[in-house]
Amino acid sequence: MGFSFIINLSYLVGAFSFVWGLRLLSSPDSARRGNIFAGIGMGVAIVATMIMPLVDAANNYAWILGGMAIGGIIGLISARRVQMTSMPQMVSIFNGLGGACAVVLAMAELNNYYAGINEMSLGAVGIALFTLFIGGIAFTGSLLAFAKLEGLVWDSTVTLPKHNIINMILLVVTLTLGIYLFLNDSLTLALVFMALSLVYGFSFVAPIGGADMPVVISLLNSFTGLSAAAAGLIYGNNLMLVGGILVGASGTILTVLMCNAMNRSLFNVLIGGFGGSAAAGKSLDGDQVAKSVNINDAAIQLFYSQSVIIVPGYGLAVAQAQKVCKEVDDLLEANGVDVKYAIHPVAGRMPGHMNVLLAEADVPYPKLLDLEEANAALKSTDVVVVVGANDVVNPSAEDDPASPIYGMPVLKVWDAKTIIVLKRSMRPGYAGIQNPLFFHEKNKMLFGDAKDSLSKLASEIKTL
Ligand code: TAP
Repeated sequence: MGFSFIINLSYLVGAFSFVWGLRLLSSPDSARRGNIFAGIGMGVAIVATMIMPLVDAANNYAWILGGMAIGGIIGLISARRVQMTSMPQMVSIFNGLGGACAVVLAMAELNNYYAGINEMSLGAVGIALFTLFIGGIAFTGSLLAFAKLEGLVWDSTVTLPKHNIINMILLVVTLTLGIYLFLNDSLTLALVFMALSLVYGFSFVAPIGGADMPVVISLLNSFTGLSAAAAGLIYGNNLMLVGGILVGASGTILTVLMCNAMNRSLFNVLIGGFGGSAAAGKSLDGDQVAKSVNINDAAIQLFYSQSVIIVPGYGLAVAQAQKVCKEVDDLLEANGVDVKYAIHPVAGRMPGHMNVLLAEADVPYPKLLDLEEANAALKSTDVVVVVGANDVVNPSAEDDPASPIYGMPVLKVWDAKTIIVLKRSMRPGYAGIQNPLFFHEKNKMLFGDAKDSLSKLASEIKTL
């Protein structure tokens, strides 16, 4: 039994772990196990890859271990420190670094080929150029996405007039150069091609609006997967190929799901221009006043109702109010109130954001209703409590064709008998648009930080 057999067997175990890990990630109950499973698979793959230099009798262990130690320490520290609300930024940075790796690998191979150190078939050159292109876009695109999400860069500062036309020209020039390089050898032009791909990645993300960033991050994630798969082809590394394809496919599926959840085409997302204008959509009458409710009245209303649906949103994550939300749920259930949670597919800032938060607070999974189930249940619900959600409960999506979110499926909370919205102010949500729900006759605002308001509600309910 030679080294090659052990390596291939380990890769097979790694590939199986990735697939099984992904399978387990599809349910909150098993997601943690899925993560561990896939992590073990990656560990097996790394050890197998470390054995490989022994086979080739040429090793670079100092470089490999040094890189792993530095990357591992940075990864561990950042993963421990990152806030739940900053997860999209973290995913974006990791994406970008994956793209950067693919660029470096492809450029190193092309350099060796042009210098006559390595042989490469025409197909292999094509794959290396593809890796360079896709990896370059994933790298700079993800860095800009990170900067936008982190609030370091504003859309207006990086978007030029007629930006989509500029992007089209840039894309055509880059692809033409790629085809030329496929047929002719030139290290200098390969470096220009790499630079153009990096510029295109930045320019591609520049005009895309803030609220669409999670979709773009998922798309860039699939690009990173594709570039890793292509790099796997260059090196003849089957596990890199399988891993890359899995990342590419899951990123693509997620992108499509998010677009569907917002009822927008990917093209519409990529040409940008969504979100940001508070004046967008129907303007609200100046004399409209939102009614507010105090803790005491809200607690009485909740305590004596038969059914309550809680709608969590991004504000729940910001306030870290999931545990106290569960406490209110428990107190109401103890009084015979039926409490459920309505989960919008794009509530929060990443797919499954609300599911993860509620799982953290041990909310039983059967209490979570998806969009269709929730909209059916809302019609017979006494009180809806909207906790830090805004865009996902905006009626303009249903009745205002001028609204940027018109057509997006939303939770029809206005079908319930009463609505209580917990937020700190009248400020708009992520899409930057006004929400007429706050002025709806059935609605009352409970102003304040969600955690604080829910804690006070819990204390008040205990006194009833
Ligand atoms: P948002 O529309 O972003 O609204 C969140 C609200 O939470 C804000 O209006 C804010 O109002 C409130 N808030 C913030 N901090 C709070 C705190 N400490 N206590 C109480 N309230 C607080 O959230 P959403 O309804 O969850 O919508 C998600 C948005 O992200 C949508 O526009 C969606 O299209 C977009 N998006 C999401 C995804 C995924 S995968 N999740 C993907 C693509 C796009 P105050 O400042 O007044 O408190």
